[in-house]
This record gives sequence, structure tokens and C-alpha cells, in this order.
Amino acid sequence: MKAARFARHGGVEELEVVDVPDPACGPEDVVIRVGATSLNGFDPMILAGTTGLKTPLPMTPCGDFAGEIAEVGPEVMGWNVGDRVCPHPYVLGEGMTGETRLGAASQYVRIPASNLIATPDGVSDVEAASLPIAYGTAHRMMTTRGKLRAGEKVLILGATGGVGTCCVQLAKSVGAEVIVTGSAAWKLDRLRKLGADHVIDTSQEDFVDAAHRICGRPRVFGGGGVDVVVNYIGGETWAKSLKCLKRDGRMLTCGATAGFEPPTDIRFIWSFEQNIIGANGWTPDEQREVLQMVSDGRLKPVIHAARPLAAIAESMQELIDRKVVGKSILLPFDEGADGP
Ligand SMILES: NC(=O)c1ccc[n+]([C@@H]2O[C@H](COP(=O)([O-])OP(=O)(O)OC[C@H]3O[C@@H](n4cnc5c(N)ncnc54)[C@H](OP(=O)(O)O)[C@@H]3O)[C@@H](O)[C@H]2O)c1
Repeated sequence: MKAARFARHGGVEELEVVDVPDPACGPEDVVIRVGATSLNGFDPMILAGTTGLKTPLPMTPCGDFAGEIAEVGPEVMGWNVGDRVCPHPYVLGEGMTGETRLGAASQYVRIPASNLIATPDGVSDVEAASLPIAYGTAHRMMTTRGKLRAGEKVLILGATGGVGTCCVQLAKSVGAEVIVTGSAAWKLDRLRKLGADHVIDTSQEDFVDAAHRICGRPRVFGGGGVDVVVNYIGGETWAKSLKCLKRDGRMLTCGATAGFEPPTDIRFIWSFEQNIIGANGWTPDEQREVLQMVSDGRLKPVIHAARPLAAIAESMQELIDRKVVGKSILLPFDEGADGP
């Protein structure tokens, strides 16, 4: 089969699409014919080797995938060849697909049957493959952990990304007032169409000044600020975000694209009695809920592009260059101009 691989950490020049043996199906496993897989913010980090995680090499990128069962292990009950599935990519004892176990940027993937989740009718492989990591995590962060409520003001940083485009939709669906940041006007136009109430172009304006202009400067004893900041960017945005939060406000985080050891300013945390709330991953039930929301039309994954597997380096570079809104999809069996 064809699979994308990298044998050394580095930039996209380390990625190649090669012929490798098909995966062997263990007794409790299935092998899935991958209809679609998607890139996430962590894929360039795993490729670069900057996460602190130990990645076995060679590695195949991508954690998310959807497709149909091509082979069923002899001890598997309840699943059949041809069933459409969107597996949970975290495997007990093996870790995360695309991080510590071979990823889904390949034509076939082996996974324990216990990870399988059925793809609901009406949800395409492209849509399903865009959901688990970004939309599953966003759902857990905003709903289960963040408990976002109607009428709250929420500031979502880097809202143009995979996680962010889901956060915007979830916040709108509960009736929150949504303020977003993005680094280019064309990206912010897309977010307006998704329902964002206020947009901040970080190439033009400091987001703290803009948030104060929109919601007022927070006061210790009343008024101003946002109820919730969603910050998976970290780096220099971390301490600045504390300056946007109202008293008893909540900062939600699930990552640190721009750096996980940022300077902070603890004075804001005690003076404004702020709450820092982490969210990590998502449960299989949360993944089922997100798939169902798409099936019901309550959530629509934002797809930036769907390209053949051979375009993985170009797609990854676009993500690094911040030229993506939503999710980039790869199609392992697409034999298009760039096809495998
Ligand atoms: N803990 C978990 O389970 C979990 C799960 C999923 C994701 N995450 C983390 O959540 C974060 C977002 O993931 P994602 O897949 O949504 O990533 P993504 O699609 O790359 O989106 C991140 C957004 O952040 C902005 N950005 C990118 N690089 C930046 C930089 N150096 N400084 C400031 N802003 C930057 C970009 O928007 P603009 O260019 O428009 O500003 C981009 O659209 C990542 O850190 C990821 O590792 C964690």
C-alpha cells in the first residue's frame, strides 16, 4: 500500500509517499480502507519533534481517519467488512495514532475493534475524518469542561484553525457572543460567515486593545472583559489573555501552538479570581455526539481542501504558514494529478 512516512524529524522535505507492506490484522483488530484522513495542528509539531513526546521512527502522520472495514480479526464480534467507521484514534497501550503509533496518512490502517465508532448515515468520509481530534476536543473543551452558557462573551484566539472553527460553531449554538482572532482578512471573512459576532485581525491590531474596545477593560469590582477566553496558542498570547478576562472569568486551554512555557502574570489570576481550565482529548461518547451533530445538521465541519495523499507536504506547509481555515483533508485512494 501507499503511505506517507518520515524517517527523521524536520520540515516537510522529510515527508515522502512510499510503498510499504499492508498492515497485519491481529485477532482483535480490524483493518480499515482509509477513505479520508485529516491534518491537525499537532502534525507539523510531531514532524518537527518539538512536542516533548518520543515518536518512534519512521512515522506516518495523521490521527484522524474514516473509511470502511476491509478485514476483521477472528475474535472480533459485531463488526463486518464494508461497515463505515470513524475510529477513536487513541489506542490503549499504543498511544495516539500519528504520534506514537503509525498514523492514517496511508491506504490501510490497523486498529483494535474496541476503538471503532460507526459513521452515521449522511456523514461523508471527508466530514467524519475532519472531526475526532479537532472537533472532539473542541466539544469537550467548550461544553464538558468549559460549560459555556447563553449570553456569555467568549474570545476565541486562532479561531481559524481546526479546533477554532468548531469552537465558533459551538459557542454560537449555545447563544454566546463570539469574538474571534485571525491573522488575515480573508480568514476572518470565513469566520463571519460561520457566525462570529466580532472579528479581530491580529495582523492589524493588538487583540487585547481590540477586546477592550469591544467589551470594555475588565474592572476588579465590576464591568468589562469577556467571560471566557479560549487559548490553545500559548506563547506571548497567554499573559495578554489574562488581561481580557472579567472577574471570575474562565480561560480554556487544550494546547500551546506558540509555546508551552509562556511568561504569565499571576496578579491577574488572584485579583480577578480567574479560573484556568484544561481540556485534553475527548471520549468515544463525545466523538459519537460530534458525529451525530454533523448528521443532524447542528455542526458543519469547515473543510479547507481535500487533496490526494501525494499532496501531504504541500498541505502540511500550508498549515505551518497559517494559510488554512478549518481542516485539510487527504484522500489516500485519490489518483488525481498528484495521486499516489
Ligand atoms: N490536548 C488535546 O487533546 C488537543 C487536541 C487537538 C488540538 N490540540 C492543540 O490545539 C491547538 C490547535 O490545534 P488545531 O488543530 O486547531 O491547529 P490549527 O488548525 O493549526 O489552528 C491553530 C490556529 O492558531 C493560529 N496559529 C498558528 N500558529 C500560530 C503561532 N505560531 N502563533 C499564534 N497563532 C498561531 C492560526 O490562526 P491565525 O493564523 O489565523 O492566527 C491557526 O489557524 C494546537 O496547539 C494543538 O496541538 C490539543
